[in-house]
Amino acid sequence: MITIDVIAGARPNFMKIAALFAVASEFPDLRLRLVHTGQHYDAAMSDIFMNELNIPEPVCHLGVGGGSHAVQTAEVMIKYEKWIINNRPDIVLVVGDVNSTLACAVVASKENVKIAHVEAGLRSFDKSMPEEINRIITDSICDYFYVTEKSALNNLIREGHSSKSIIFVGNVMVDTLYLMKQKADSIKAYEKYSLKPNQYAYITLHRPSNVDNSDNLSAICEQLIWLADRLPVVFPVHPRTMKNLVTLSLENKLLSHKSITLTSPVGYLESLSLQMYAKIIITDSGGIQEESAVLHKKCLTLRENTERPITIEYGNNVLIGNDWNMFKNCINDMDNVNCKIDSSIPFWDGNAAKRILKHLSSLNI
Ligand code: UD1
Repeated sequence: MITIDVIAGARPNFMKIAALFAVASEFPDLRLRLVHTGQHYDAAMSDIFMNELNIPEPVCHLGVGGGSHAVQTAEVMIKYEKWIINNRPDIVLVVGDVNSTLACAVVASKENVKIAHVEAGLRSFDKSMPEEINRIITDSICDYFYVTEKSALNNLIREGHSSKSIIFVGNVMVDTLYLMKQKADSIKAYEKYSLKPNQYAYITLHRPSNVDNSDNLSAICEQLIWLADRLPVVFPVHPRTMKNLVTLSLENKLLSHKSITLTSPVGYLESLSLQMYAKIIITDSGGIQEESAVLHKKCLTLRENTERPITIEYGNNVLIGNDWNMFKNCINDMDNVNCKIDSSIPFWDGNAAKRILKHLSSLNI
């Protein structure tokens, strides 16, 4: 029996680990234990995903909560170290690029426990992103790399990792999307906001580079108002973003537009449903760039770079950065844009979690 601590802490982790737990019963030689770090703690950022995605109760909840990067990372490390010393697993499996990913990987490494990283090797080559630091450091101490796309594989080889430790498995988030698509379709979330299918823009924003900088956030709000004159906008607002909108009195400015709907953060099913029926998606999220590629939706990414270049090659993702002329051109042209490539992204087929667990169960640990 191989015991695996599966680490999750922040919103984008839950849809990834859900795919692993969904197929875990097919691998009776593996014992998956969920460790929830508590990096995200609001019901709307954690519990709703756990419930909707049938994720089992954690065996351990570290209850870390918010804080600066150093505080949050250190708290996870201190608490997870105590757990791992008393409840040693054979493998620690981390996903994505959040502070909990980095913190648990460092602890596991110093306790000489093998580390597996799901979504390894992605690189934005932008060290101003906290996630890029987390990605680079996690991969530098990791033992098994599960990659979603060719660029990640190439990055890891270039960084000197052995090809034997890199496994091209596909995308667990896409597994979850396929599992939940029908259910998401049936809820028709657009009706809740009195919107019509394919006649609204779906917005998500939470990157510090967009929302913690007052000039950038003000400019984005101006553009959203311009957009709302042409197409209704639905915008579930992340807590980080809401704090800054309120501080800068931008929340009321957005709300005063009759075609802008601001909501609290939405759960997985509602987010997927809103994406499925959106005319266009505007985001700075890594996960939504991938989901929109699979759903063949036009996605305008308000970032200068992406660690997921496959979404540009195969999907309809366009990097806008803060080029508002390009933004306006894309909006004005949105009726003429069809998905560039009609084929699926290699290995994004709903079977990534099985490939990961198959590999883990083949390990001689
Ligand atoms: C974190 C991840 C980011 C991920 C994002 C998804 C890191 C470095 N960043 O960023 O990669 O894309 O999650 O949401 O790990 N807050 C709440 N309730 C919560 C969680 C957070 O109110 O449940 C507040 C915090 O107090 C803080 C702000 O939201 O003021 C930001 O939270 P934080 O966890 O620091 O980072 P995120 O921006 O969510």
